[in-house]
Amino acid sequence: MTTVDPENLPLLEALHSTPARRYLSTADIPDDIVRAILDAAIRGPSAGNGQFWAWIVVKDPQVKKQIAGWYREGWERHYGSRREQILAAPAGSPMSKTSFLAADHLATHLEEAPVWIFPVLLGAAKSTNPRLGSSIYGAVQQLILAARAHGIGATLTTLHIGHEADVRELLGLPEDALTMALIPLGYPAKGRWSQPKRRPLDEVVHFERFQTS
Ligand SMILES: Cc1cc2nc3c(=O)[nH]c(=O)nc-3n(C[C@H](O)[C@H](O)[C@H](O)COP(=O)(O)O)c2cc1C
Repeated sequence: MTTVDPENLPLLEALHSTPARRYLSTADIPDDIVRAILDAAIRGPSAGNGQFWAWIVVKDPQVKKQIAGWYREGWERHYGSRREQILAAPAGSPMSKTSFLAADHLATHLEEAPVWIFPVLLGAAKSTNPRLGSSIYGAVQQLILAARAHGIGATLTTLHIGHEADVRELLGLPEDALTMALIPLGYPAKGRWSQPKRRPLDEVVHFERFQTS
């Protein structure tokens, strides 16, 4: 683990060098750093500054073990069961071989990440608002970037949601609450802070009107 000066990372450099980090060390993260990361997260936006959220910090090995099993069910159903097909896919396919192997590693080692954060939206379970997530995902990205400033890796994950009701009960969440992600945090054990690969800017940016060609 290398100690990082959180003040020393230019914002734009962070924006360009924070990929999902899925190979994490088991080294603990000091509580004051977890608090500092959450304190940066909650500065994020929500509609009307409603802040109808709760941020659940999970370190309990038993709770992590239980939820990691549920996560692996989701991983297997959506990706693991297509392992051969995904690994044989040509370069340029939506999920690269490297990403698959990293996500597979995270799925099989999830409970080893020392700290998990569940960003939770209160009163959201029955919502039909398609923009609901906008009242927390900005803050979630702040959490990921604040973690990065402390040299801590993170991934926004959601594959536990096949067991949403079980997770809600285990974490003691209100009936109408919705977990919006499970973010495992840890000091990176492998990989680099590198620029995330994305489609070219000019392919996705439109000026004034959506262009079809
Ligand atoms: C809504 C959402 C759900 C995601 N769920 C998972 C997940 O369950 N497991 C996982 O390993 N990554 C998950 N990711 C991470 C994406 O795979 C990742 O952001 C994408 O591959 C880009 O990765 P990169 O920033 O490292 O290039 C999720 C991301 C989003 C935005």
